[in-house]
Amino acid sequence: MLILGLESTAHTFSAGIVDDAGNVLNLVSDTYIPETGGLHPLKTAMHHQDCFDGVISTTVKEAKVSIRDIDLIAFSQGPGLGPCLRIGATIARTLSAGLRIPMVGVNHCVAHVEIGRVACGCDDPLCLYVSGGNTIISALKCGRYQVFGETLDIALGNMLDTFAREAGLAHPGGPKIEQLARKSDLLLDLPYVVKGMDLSFSGILTSAIRLLAKHDLEDIANSLQETTFAMLAEVTERAVAHTGKEEVLLTGGVAANDRLKKMIDIVALEQDASFHVVPRKLAGDNGAMIAWTGFLQFDQGNTTSLEESRVMPNWRLDQVDIPWRQER
Ligand code: ATP
Ligand code: FE2
Repeated sequence: MLILGLESTAHTFSAGIVDDAGNVLNLVSDTYIPETGGLHPLKTAMHHQDCFDGVISTTVKEAKVSIRDIDLIAFSQGPGLGPCLRIGATIARTLSAGLRIPMVGVNHCVAHVEIGRVACGCDDPLCLYVSGGNTIISALKCGRYQVFGETLDIALGNMLDTFAREAGLAHPGGPKIEQLARKSDLLLDLPYVVKGMDLSFSGILTSAIRLLAKHDLEDIANSLQETTFAMLAEVTERAVAHTGKEEVLLTGGVAANDRLKKMIDIVALEQDASFHVVPRKLAGDNGAMIAWTGFLQFDQGNTTSLEESRVMPNWRLDQVDIPWRQER
């Protein structure tokens, strides 16, 4: 069976086609990059409105299938920006009705975890999900992806992007900070904020912006990465020790960072756990992860009716039942 997944929670409109074994037939994305400042929800939604037709038809054409071959439509139902989510949901309802096939609403955070599991071939990982909008340490417990630790304010990717913007770098800032950090091994003093199992990045952001007046950008970039990645490593280590999970999975857009991968790899090694990182093309927001998670839900007999298809901008990871996973 073939599943078409639509992703539209934030900056990216993406369509992906997967089969029921988790193979990605094709994936096409179009990302909105604001000229200045952060993401404006309505402007981002207008971007999605303008590009969805081209993105979906290219996805289908390049996969060498016809839209009539699709058996299920999956869409990101939340969490995310309301106006952006509504574009994806409207397209899903239209395709589902027009093609007379079922649709299924997917939680975007669950999708980041599930694409990591299938792409890396891991079974029951402790998952570190770090992106522009989320910083979550979670694992399966009592039928749900329980959150063991998370950010108390902004997400790590958002912090890196905001700092980069203040430093005059173009969006997205994460990859540029990684390149700059490679040129330094100096560690400037920045607040290290771990509260129990939770993290905070807003104070670090303010401090790092202040350092811009008197330090080299490379040194600040390196210090930002070393400090925040060490915070993540600490919480990840405690979560692995507490849950006894034997696999660690790094996923989300920031999982593309080589320094973060190396640090979490060491944590896993020291805890006798295997380390897995989602392939780069599936790390950021993409329609393939929505399609695959939609299939997992459909396979359990769950579809989404028109009445149930309202978007949920604040839908949390730990509010979703995960019936396709057996507890160990
Ligand atoms: P979500 O909606 O799940 O929060 P998102 O909308 O932020 O995700 P993603 O594509 O998952 O989208 O992640 C984008 C983030 O990843 C950006 O903040 C970007 O700066 C960051 N990022 C990408 N590559 C790197 C890198 N090499 N190092 C650090 N951060 C990176
Ligand atoms: Fe995402």
